[in-house]
Amino acid sequence: MSDLRDDLSRQLTTARDRTLRLTDHDEPELVRQHSPLMSPLVWDLAHIGQQEDLWLLRHGDAARPGLLPPAVEALYDAFTQPRAVRNRLPLLPPVEARAFCLDVRGRVLDRLDRLGDADDPFDFAMVVSHEQQHDETMLQALQLRSGPPLLGAGTPVPPGRPGPAGTSVLVPGGPFVLGVDAAEEPFSLDNERPAHTVDVPAFRIGRVPVTNAEYAAFVTAGGYRTPRWWSERGWEHRQAAALERPRFWGPDGTRTRFGIVEELPPDEPVQHVTFFEAEAYAAWSGARLPTEAEWEKAAVWDPATGRRRRFPWGSAEPTPSLVNLGGSALRPAPVGAYPAGASAYGVEQLMGDVWEWTSSPFRPWPGFRPMLYATYSAPFFDGDYRVLRGGSWAAAASILRPSFRNWDHPIRRQIFSGIRLAWDVETTDA
Ligand code: AVJ
Ligand code: FE
Repeated sequence: MSDLRDDLSRQLTTARDRTLRLTDHDEPELVRQHSPLMSPLVWDLAHIGQQEDLWLLRHGDAARPGLLPPAVEALYDAFTQPRAVRNRLPLLPPVEARAFCLDVRGRVLDRLDRLGDADDPFDFAMVVSHEQQHDETMLQALQLRSGPPLLGAGTPVPPGRPGPAGTSVLVPGGPFVLGVDAAEEPFSLDNERPAHTVDVPAFRIGRVPVTNAEYAAFVTAGGYRTPRWWSERGWEHRQAAALERPRFWGPDGTRTRFGIVEELPPDEPVQHVTFFEAEAYAAWSGARLPTEAEWEKAAVWDPATGRRRRFPWGSAEPTPSLVNLGGSALRPAPVGAYPAGASAYGVEQLMGDVWEWTSSPFRPWPGFRPMLYATYSAPFFDGDYRVLRGGSWAAAASILRPSFRNWDHPIRRQIFSGIRLAWDVETTDA
């Protein structure tokens, strides 16, 4: 139990250090709304504390008094306050937001020290996950920010290797175990559970994500002018939003990354594409997007043992030589950068680098049961969302598993989203 407490306390502290670094800016910077799609950073900051107060100090009972007056607490309710207008709310100034978060955190750490029968360690991990996810959200806001660079160029990533680009591997048909249970992954979120067997027909999947160079060929070939590659809804959106190329690409082979204009690295996974663009690119390539089940089988199934691996590469904890996670790189690593991170089938860069769009709508696994934070997943099931898998360079390793499910509207592309292709395999009976 004390190991578990130490681990959770470390994870809370790591998340908070990251949050404070991302919000270590002057007040005018923190209250700026960079886009109607994103909150001012000072909103995320206080919202992180408000959620921690609600789930860990009040066990989710919003009727119990929290550390904020009810009228102030209401400003941080994501369901009632639309992102586009959060800068017009009477938000806590940065100094007060930090003091509030610190006050909550002190009480939470006390509580963790005396972890009793009424406290579930899972809830602490859930709150860590929430904070780390908002840290990625803040990076999305900062990528939309105009003005001179604020974050620098990022830490180095390993070099790529040319072999795997454009190649695919075969995943033979057959059953595998999709999802996880609390017994093996105690900190998995509600939507990852329960583990259940599904039969997945044979398919091929890209060894690595689609690169900028590959995607640029689609743009140059007139992909954005050719309705036949797009779904009906996708084409409508392409026209309405006047999409011409991925978000943050210039017309001249450059891209803007956290305020820095640079040449598009040809061998880096393409990012900032909508689901509709991913679908169109796949169609133009003679491929399609993978389903969630296909993606997860390619990531974790070990055909030699007939069991899941904890991570694509095995059971070792993620390290910078296996995977690009944690946010410090400020970009995806080039394809082929992580041969040691390959799955049993030889698929690389499944975790980290870019979130990969799947063709699957966000739905519960059979037997789904909501966690304490019951509105994390359930309100979004069967809405207009597609699932993304794997985690981007901005996701934290500590909250990520191959079973982790992210979701967004198919028109969103301020997220660090990219593409992995899949193909049907003709099964011929002898
Ligand atoms: C799982 C990333 C879609 O940002 O909307 C944060 C995570 N939920 N606070 C989101 C979340 C509540 C969620 N995503
Ligand atoms: Fe939130």
